[in-house]
Amino acid sequence: MGRLSGKVAVITGGASGIAYGAVEMYVDEGAKIVVADIQAQKGAQLERRFPGSVYFSACDIRNEADIARTMAMADEKFGGLDIVLHAAASVDHKQKIADLTAEDWDDGQANLLRSHVMCIKHAIGPMQRRGGGSVILVSSAAAENFSPAASMVYVVCKGGVLYLARWAAFELAGSNIRVNAIVPGAFATSMWGQLVGASREVADIMPAHLDEMMAGSQPLPRPGKPLDIAYAATYLGSDEAGFVTGAQFAVDGGLSIFRPAVPKEKVMDYLQQAKTQAEEELRSMGKAT
Ligand SMILES: NC(=O)c1ccc[n+]([C@@H]2O[C@H](COP(=O)([O-])OP(=O)(O)OC[C@H]3O[C@@H](n4cnc5c(N)ncnc54)[C@H](O)[C@@H]3O)[C@@H](O)[C@H]2O)c1
Repeated sequence: MGRLSGKVAVITGGASGIAYGAVEMYVDEGAKIVVADIQAQKGAQLERRFPGSVYFSACDIRNEADIARTMAMADEKFGGLDIVLHAAASVDHKQKIADLTAEDWDDGQANLLRSHVMCIKHAIGPMQRRGGGSVILVSSAAAENFSPAASMVYVVCKGGVLYLARWAAFELAGSNIRVNAIVPGAFATSMWGQLVGASREVADIMPAHLDEMMAGSQPLPRPGKPLDIAYAATYLGSDEAGFVTGAQFAVDGGLSIFRPAVPKEKVMDYLQQAKTQAEEELRSMGKAT
């Protein structure tokens, strides 16, 4: 029997990166999953790969109605909801308050913070009907230990996610709904491509070229891999973590104790280099970039 047998999960952002690894592990551990993402093609691939265990919900996390429909889908397809892993997010380039428009703030905040509130809000009813549940929010080490490449909106909202997890844990403890935050360090995923304006196709190849930079980003000399987060999310989603709520769970190779001082220019150069390598790789496969 798997560690998540009989459990139903919603995983946002499951079409790519960190949460993709969690989808694979959750299936292995016996869970049924609704994957919510804006990448419909990859969602359809997941449904084909895991027939009967994974359904895809086309969901933009900035839209409350999409989130409400996604939580309801877990109920309809699998008869309940026990776990929400909210990992979907995107990054932006806006680094300075002076450059920010009100619209930039509203859109970034809707993506990076309000979506967490809405995921919790629409999970409460179905989780209460099951007698409890586990909500796992995904923050970032950049919230506490600023990274030279991170943007202001991203950092501030990811900090808000940490506080939200504590508040929601407090508010929902009486319903036996646990709320915790995973705090990832540096992970080689396609998200980094967004910082250098890479297309989705190019960004998806970039992680293979990020190992060297990521290996030097924290005390443990290797990049974080989606599997590292999947283990933490499996633990927090399972009954093994039944007395764990309001916690911040660092999965960061030691970044919270020491961040090597790497100048922003060096990070951006490295990302540009990885982008160029990924573009060349795509061209050699006969695909346009
Ligand atoms: N990669 C890192 O180094 C790192 C570090 C700290 C925290 N994180 C966090 O981990 C989480 C996962 O990021 P990742 O690195 O796997 O990135 P990723 O880009 O590989 O995955 C993000 C997923 O979210 C989806 N998404 C983006 N905007 C969306 C929207 N509006 N609606 C629905 N889905 C949307 C994307 O399609 C993608 O599938 C994010 O919350 C990110 O902030 C990542």
